[in-house]
Amino acid sequence: MSAALEIDGLTVSFPSGKGIVQAVRSLNLTVAAGSVFGFLGPNGAGKTTTIHVLLGFQSPTSGSARVFGRTVSDTMARDRIGFLAENPDTYGFLTGRELLGFTGRLFRMEKGLISRRAGELFASLGLSSAADRRIASYSRGMKQRLCMAQSLINDPDLLILDEPTGGLDPIGRREVRRIITERRSAGKTVFFSSHELSEVELVSDRIGVLVAGRLVAEGTVDEVVGPAGNLERRFVQLVEEESGKGGAA
Ligand SMILES: Nc1ncnc2c1ncn2[C@@H]1O[C@H](COP(=O)(O)OP(=O)(O)OP(=O)(O)O)[C@@H](O)[C@H]1O
Ligand SMILES: [Mg+2]
Repeated sequence: MSAALEIDGLTVSFPSGKGIVQAVRSLNLTVAAGSVFGFLGPNGAGKTTTIHVLLGFQSPTSGSARVFGRTVSDTMARDRIGFLAENPDTYGFLTGRELLGFTGRLFRMEKGLISRRAGELFASLGLSSAADRRIASYSRGMKQRLCMAQSLINDPDLLILDEPTGGLDPIGRREVRRIITERRSAGKTVFFSSHELSEVELVSDRIGVLVAGRLVAEGTVDEVVGPAGNLERRFVQLVEEESGKGGAA
Protein backbone atom coordinates (compact mmCIF):
# COMPACT_ATOMS: atom_id res chain seq x y z
CA MET A 1 0.00 0.00 0.00
CA SER A 2 1.42 3.40 -0.85
CA ALA A 3 0.41 6.14 1.55
CA ALA A 4 -1.05 9.48 0.49
CA LEU A 5 -0.90 10.74 4.03
CA GLU A 6 1.15 9.76 7.05
CA ILE A 7 0.71 11.47 10.40
CA ASP A 8 3.13 10.42 13.08
CA GLY A 9 2.81 11.37 16.75
CA LEU A 10 1.24 14.71 15.86
CA THR A 11 0.58 17.06 18.76
CA VAL A 12 -0.59 20.66 18.37
CA SER A 13 -0.94 22.98 21.36
CA PHE A 14 -2.20 26.54 21.44
CA PRO A 15 -1.68 29.09 24.20
CA SER A 16 -4.96 29.82 25.97
CA GLY A 17 -5.12 32.33 28.80
CA LYS A 18 -2.59 31.15 31.38
CA GLY A 19 -2.58 27.58 30.10
CA ILE A 20 -2.56 25.72 26.79
CA VAL A 21 -5.16 23.93 24.72
CA GLN A 22 -4.02 20.60 23.28
CA ALA A 23 -5.93 20.65 20.02
CA VAL A 24 -4.34 17.43 18.69
CA ARG A 25 -2.74 14.79 20.92
CA SER A 26 -0.26 12.16 19.69
CA LEU A 27 -2.17 11.47 16.50
CA ASN A 28 -0.99 8.58 14.31
CA LEU A 29 -2.82 8.02 11.05
CA THR A 30 -2.05 6.64 7.60
CA VAL A 31 -4.36 7.06 4.61
CA ALA A 32 -3.77 4.82 1.60
CA ALA A 33 -3.45 6.42 -1.83
CA GLY A 34 -6.63 5.97 -3.86
CA SER A 35 -8.92 5.77 -0.84
CA VAL A 36 -11.55 7.99 0.78
CA PHE A 37 -11.09 8.79 4.45
CA GLY A 38 -13.84 10.39 6.56
CA PHE A 39 -12.58 12.37 9.53
CA LEU A 40 -15.21 12.70 12.26
CA GLY A 41 -15.34 14.37 15.63
CA PRO A 42 -17.43 16.79 17.66
CA ASN A 43 -16.95 20.57 17.49
CA GLY A 44 -13.52 21.53 18.77
CA ALA A 45 -12.11 17.99 18.40
CA GLY A 46 -9.08 19.11 16.37
CA LYS A 47 -10.13 18.20 12.80
CA THR A 48 -9.45 21.59 11.24
CA THR A 49 -6.19 21.93 13.18
CA THR A 50 -5.03 18.56 11.80
CA ILE A 51 -6.00 19.63 8.28
CA HIS A 52 -4.08 22.90 8.70
CA VAL A 53 -0.97 20.90 9.61
CA LEU A 54 -1.39 18.78 6.45
CA LEU A 55 -1.51 21.97 4.41
CA GLY A 56 1.51 23.52 6.11
CA PHE A 57 -0.63 26.35 7.57
CA GLN A 58 0.04 25.21 11.13
CA SER A 59 3.32 23.87 12.53
CA PRO A 60 3.20 20.79 14.73
CA THR A 61 4.16 21.27 18.37
CA SER A 62 5.66 17.80 18.06
CA GLY A 63 5.40 14.89 15.63
CA SER A 64 5.25 15.12 11.85
CA ALA A 65 3.08 14.71 8.78
CA ARG A 66 3.90 13.69 5.22
CA VAL A 67 1.93 13.90 1.98
CA PHE A 68 3.03 11.42 -0.69
CA GLY A 69 6.26 10.96 1.26
CA ARG A 70 7.14 14.67 1.42
CA THR A 71 7.12 16.53 4.70
CA VAL A 72 4.28 19.05 4.77
CA SER A 73 6.64 21.98 5.33
CA ASP A 74 8.01 21.29 1.82
CA THR A 75 5.94 23.55 -0.44
CA MET A 76 6.23 21.01 -3.29
CA ALA A 77 3.97 18.71 -1.24
CA ARG A 78 1.15 21.24 -1.82
CA ASP A 79 1.31 20.97 -5.60
CA ARG A 80 -0.58 17.69 -5.45
CA ILE A 81 -3.23 18.87 -2.97
CA GLY A 82 -6.63 20.49 -3.51
CA PHE A 83 -8.25 22.10 -0.47
CA LEU A 84 -11.71 23.30 0.46
CA ALA A 85 -11.76 25.28 3.72
CA GLU A 86 -14.59 25.22 6.23
CA ASN A 87 -16.73 28.35 5.73
CA PRO A 88 -14.92 29.22 2.51
CA ASP A 89 -14.96 32.78 1.32
CA THR A 90 -12.96 34.44 -1.38
CA TYR A 91 -12.32 37.59 -3.41
CA GLY A 92 -15.75 39.11 -4.02
CA PHE A 93 -14.48 41.49 -6.73
CA LEU A 94 -13.48 38.59 -9.03
CA THR A 95 -15.87 36.57 -11.14
CA GLY A 96 -15.98 32.82 -10.60
CA ARG A 97 -14.14 32.28 -13.89
CA GLU A 98 -11.44 34.78 -12.91
CA LEU A 99 -10.94 33.00 -9.57
CA LEU A 100 -10.43 29.64 -11.26
CA GLY A 101 -8.08 31.29 -13.79
CA PHE A 102 -6.04 32.84 -11.01
CA THR A 103 -5.90 29.55 -9.08
CA GLY A 104 -4.90 27.58 -12.17
CA ARG A 105 -2.05 30.01 -12.82
CA LEU A 106 -0.81 29.50 -9.24
CA PHE A 107 -0.48 25.83 -10.17
CA ARG A 108 1.38 26.86 -13.35
CA MET A 109 -1.36 25.34 -15.52
CA GLU A 110 -1.50 26.24 -19.19
CA LYS A 111 -4.28 28.70 -20.26
CA GLY A 112 -6.21 26.32 -22.51
CA LEU A 113 -6.24 23.63 -19.85
CA ILE A 114 -7.47 26.08 -17.18
CA SER A 115 -10.30 27.23 -19.38
CA ARG A 116 -11.35 23.67 -20.34
CA ARG A 117 -11.20 22.43 -16.77
CA ALA A 118 -13.04 25.51 -15.41
CA GLY A 119 -15.84 24.94 -17.94
CA GLU A 120 -16.19 21.30 -16.87
CA LEU A 121 -16.19 22.22 -13.18
CA PHE A 122 -18.77 25.00 -13.59
CA ALA A 123 -21.03 22.56 -15.44
CA SER A 124 -20.57 19.76 -12.94
CA LEU A 125 -21.22 22.06 -9.97
CA GLY A 126 -24.23 23.83 -11.50
CA LEU A 127 -22.48 27.21 -11.79
CA SER A 128 -22.26 27.72 -15.56
CA SER A 129 -24.77 30.58 -15.60
CA ALA A 130 -23.00 32.37 -12.70
CA ALA A 131 -19.42 31.87 -13.92
CA ASP A 132 -19.05 35.44 -15.20
CA ARG A 133 -20.77 37.15 -12.29
CA ARG A 134 -18.86 38.76 -9.43
CA ILE A 135 -18.44 36.38 -6.51
CA ALA A 136 -19.81 39.07 -4.14
CA SER A 137 -23.23 38.43 -5.73
CA TYR A 138 -23.13 34.65 -5.07
CA SER A 139 -25.25 33.03 -2.37
CA ARG A 140 -23.49 31.13 0.43
CA GLY A 141 -24.03 27.75 -1.25
CA MET A 142 -22.83 29.11 -4.60
CA LYS A 143 -19.60 30.30 -2.94
CA GLN A 144 -19.21 26.85 -1.41
CA ARG A 145 -19.66 25.25 -4.84
CA LEU A 146 -17.18 27.68 -6.40
CA CYS A 147 -14.58 26.96 -3.74
CA MET A 148 -15.13 23.25 -4.38
CA ALA A 149 -14.42 23.90 -8.07
CA GLN A 150 -11.31 25.87 -7.05
CA SER A 151 -10.08 22.89 -4.98
CA LEU A 152 -10.36 20.66 -8.07
CA ILE A 153 -8.82 22.90 -10.74
CA ASN A 154 -5.41 21.21 -10.54
CA ASP A 155 -6.93 17.67 -10.64
CA PRO A 156 -5.26 17.03 -7.26
CA ASP A 157 -3.95 13.63 -6.23
CA LEU A 158 -5.09 14.42 -2.69
CA LEU A 159 -8.30 16.37 -2.12
CA ILE A 160 -8.77 17.70 1.42
CA LEU A 161 -12.26 18.94 2.24
CA ASP A 162 -13.15 20.52 5.59
CA GLU A 163 -16.91 20.04 5.95
CA PRO A 164 -17.69 20.18 2.25
CA THR A 165 -21.46 19.91 2.57
CA GLY A 166 -22.02 22.72 5.11
CA GLY A 167 -24.40 25.24 3.54
CA LEU A 168 -25.30 23.06 0.56
CA ASP A 169 -28.79 22.10 -0.51
CA PRO A 170 -29.65 18.39 -1.00
CA ILE A 171 -28.62 18.53 -4.67
CA GLY A 172 -25.29 20.13 -3.76
CA ARG A 173 -24.72 17.43 -1.14
CA ARG A 174 -25.36 14.73 -3.69
CA GLU A 175 -22.91 16.44 -6.06
CA VAL A 176 -20.24 16.45 -3.37
CA ARG A 177 -20.81 12.71 -2.87
CA ARG A 178 -20.53 12.17 -6.59
CA ILE A 179 -17.32 14.19 -6.79
CA ILE A 180 -15.78 12.22 -3.93
CA THR A 181 -16.64 8.85 -5.48
CA GLU A 182 -15.45 10.00 -8.91
CA ARG A 183 -12.11 11.03 -7.41
CA ARG A 184 -11.70 7.56 -5.96
CA SER A 185 -12.63 5.93 -9.30
CA ALA A 186 -9.87 8.04 -10.89
CA GLY A 187 -7.38 6.61 -8.35
CA LYS A 188 -7.19 9.84 -6.30
CA THR A 189 -7.28 10.21 -2.52
CA VAL A 190 -9.88 12.17 -0.57
CA PHE A 191 -9.55 13.18 3.09
CA PHE A 192 -12.60 14.99 4.40
CA SER A 193 -14.11 16.08 7.68
CA SER A 194 -17.85 16.07 8.19
CA HIS A 195 -20.62 16.07 10.76
CA GLU A 196 -22.98 14.40 8.28
CA LEU A 197 -22.58 10.82 9.46
CA SER A 198 -24.96 9.34 6.88
CA GLU A 199 -22.93 10.89 4.05
CA VAL A 200 -19.64 9.82 5.56
CA GLU A 201 -20.90 6.22 5.71
CA LEU A 202 -21.90 6.28 2.06
CA VAL A 203 -18.57 7.38 0.60
CA SER A 204 -15.74 6.46 2.99
CA ASP A 205 -13.43 3.46 2.71
CA ARG A 206 -12.25 4.14 6.23
CA ILE A 207 -13.16 6.60 8.95
CA GLY A 208 -11.50 8.01 12.05
CA VAL A 209 -13.13 9.60 15.08
CA LEU A 210 -11.24 12.35 16.86
CA VAL A 211 -12.41 13.40 20.33
CA ALA A 212 -10.61 16.12 22.29
CA GLY A 213 -7.60 15.75 20.00
CA ARG A 214 -7.30 11.96 20.34
CA LEU A 215 -8.06 9.43 17.65
CA VAL A 216 -10.41 7.15 19.57
CA ALA A 217 -11.50 4.89 16.68
CA GLU A 218 -10.26 4.14 13.19
CA GLY A 219 -11.19 1.53 10.60
CA THR A 220 -13.87 0.67 8.07
CA VAL A 221 -17.35 1.93 8.95
CA ASP A 222 -18.33 -1.61 10.05
CA GLU A 223 -15.25 -1.95 12.24
CA VAL A 224 -15.86 1.37 13.95
CA VAL A 225 -19.62 0.82 14.42
CA GLY A 226 -19.16 -2.69 15.87
CA PRO A 227 -21.95 -3.90 18.16
CA ALA A 228 -23.38 -0.37 18.55
CA GLY A 229 -25.33 -1.08 15.35
CA ASN A 230 -25.19 2.37 13.80
CA LEU A 231 -22.63 5.09 13.37
CA GLU A 232 -24.52 7.83 15.20
CA ARG A 233 -24.92 5.67 18.31
CA ARG A 234 -21.25 4.67 18.20
CA PHE A 235 -20.17 8.27 17.70
CA VAL A 236 -22.12 9.41 20.77
CA GLN A 237 -20.68 6.50 22.81
CA LEU A 238 -17.13 7.38 21.82
CA VAL A 239 -17.60 11.06 22.68
CA GLU A 240 -19.19 10.21 26.05
CA GLU A 241 -16.48 7.66 26.91
CA GLU A 242 -13.71 10.13 26.16
CA SER A 243 -15.44 12.98 28.00
CA GLY A 244 -15.86 10.64 31.00
CA LYS A 245 -12.09 10.34 31.10
CA GLY A 246 -11.92 14.12 31.47
CA GLY A 247 -10.39 14.28 28.00
CA ALA A 248 -12.47 17.17 26.68
CA ALA A 249 -10.42 20.20 25.64
N1 LIG B 1 -5.53 29.53 16.47
C1 LIG B 1 -5.97 28.97 17.59
N2 LIG B 1 -5.67 29.50 18.81
C2 LIG B 1 -6.11 28.94 19.96
N3 LIG B 1 -6.87 27.83 19.99
C3 LIG B 1 -7.22 27.27 18.83
C4 LIG B 1 -6.80 27.80 17.57
N4 LIG B 1 -7.29 27.02 16.57
C5 LIG B 1 -7.99 26.06 17.18
N5 LIG B 1 -7.94 26.19 18.53
C6 LIG B 1 -8.57 25.31 19.52
O1 LIG B 1 -8.20 23.98 19.17
C7 LIG B 1 -9.29 23.08 19.39
C8 LIG B 1 -9.59 22.35 18.10
O2 LIG B 1 -10.16 23.24 17.15
P1 LIG B 1 -10.50 22.80 15.65
O3 LIG B 1 -10.91 24.01 14.93
O4 LIG B 1 -9.35 22.02 15.12
O5 LIG B 1 -11.74 21.80 15.88
P2 LIG B 1 -12.69 21.08 14.81
O6 LIG B 1 -12.66 19.62 15.13
O7 LIG B 1 -12.33 21.48 13.45
O8 LIG B 1 -14.12 21.64 15.23
P3 LIG B 1 -15.43 22.00 14.33
O9 LIG B 1 -16.17 20.69 14.11
O10 LIG B 1 -16.21 22.92 15.22
O11 LIG B 1 -14.99 22.65 13.06
C9 LIG B 1 -10.43 23.94 19.94
O12 LIG B 1 -10.38 23.87 21.35
C10 LIG B 1 -10.08 25.34 19.46
O13 LIG B 1 -10.59 26.32 20.35
MG1 LIG C 1 -13.35 22.50 11.96
